Amino acid sequence: MVQPQARLPKALLLITTFMLAGTGCAGTPGTAAADGGNVVVACGATEEWCAAMTAAFTAATGTGAEFVRLSSGEALARIKAGREDPEFDVWHGGPADGYAAAAGDGLLEPYVSPDAAVIPDRYKDADGTWTGVYVGVLGFCGNTRILGEKHVPVPESWQSLLDPALRQNIGIAHPSTSGTAYTALWTQVTLHGGPADGVAGAMDYMKRLHPNVLQYSKSGAAPAQQVARGEVGVGIVFSHDCLATREQGFTDLQVTFPSEGTGYEVGGVALVKGAHNPVSARKYIDWALTPAAQEIGPEVRSYQAPTNPRARRSDKTADLATLRLVDYDSIAAGAHKQELIRRFDAEVAKAPKS
Ligand code: G6P
Repeated sequence: MVQPQARLPKALLLITTFMLAGTGCAGTPGTAAADGGNVVVACGATEEWCAAMTAAFTAATGTGAEFVRLSSGEALARIKAGREDPEFDVWHGGPADGYAAAAGDGLLEPYVSPDAAVIPDRYKDADGTWTGVYVGVLGFCGNTRILGEKHVPVPESWQSLLDPALRQNIGIAHPSTSGTAYTALWTQVTLHGGPADGVAGAMDYMKRLHPNVLQYSKSGAAPAQQVARGEVGVGIVFSHDCLATREQGFTDLQVTFPSEGTGYEVGGVALVKGAHNPVSARKYIDWALTPAAQEIGPEVRSYQAPTNPRARRSDKTADLATLRLVDYDSIAAGAHKQELIRRFDAEVAKAPKS
């Protein structure tokens, strides 16, 4: 069988990290999976998280792993483009909406891992099409210095983001590429009454927010960096991405949560249909659900909550029980994803060029 790295374009190989077991020779498969291959991961969380995960998997199992970091919409598009000859074996990280959309397109292979038994039902697809590995909560990332200069209080509600004093002072990604931004969009749908009644209200909200948005970035965490640099006063991001940026020395950053309620992501893991290394891929999925794997995040400043109740939680992880969360339905969000993104692109903002 052709090794997966042999099928990757050269440019992609350059940005792909190899974690080789055994001889350490590039292109050499890790030890003895029956399919003989390194697992190739489309990885949807931060670059550091992806590198730490693939390295730890190899250290734990002896099977080589390589990854490409992709935002949610990019991963979905790449997996779709590789339908006949998949580039990836596993998709790991990034909101489950994207996984649900991929499942709807027949791009994922159901796999009920034995390690999924302990994961609560609300964090996994009943058929094993995807399983949750972490939970991240959407919030606002405010730069107190910038907001102070503008005499604008740190935002505590979705409504307050519409303040004309915040014109061109909000950062958010584009939902066509970013799972974070799609989580924000679906949160608006939910707050406005759900998919049957809430789409018009959600679109209206995003249109009213638009004059305050400086730029729609490609990746969901990028606005936290924009806020840190003082380019905008507020970012709509997963709260843990704001915290991670703050820990890089940007002490002006402050996380707040909207009083109307906020959305959250269930970060997924799934087997790609037709994967060239299905044995290694299943081994990777099993491992990703273990406490050992789910305790790695905080080591690289990724403070999502683990889905495995046996995994130790960082004390920096947002306490979901104390937050006002919307009733976020990842399956419904996935089913409506393409239609809502099309509408967002047509009615609110064109997608950023990559
Ligand atoms: C960051 C967060 C993850 C999230 C991901 C989504 O990496 O730490 O929790 O799943 O963003 O990325 P995207 O670029 O698709 O918004």
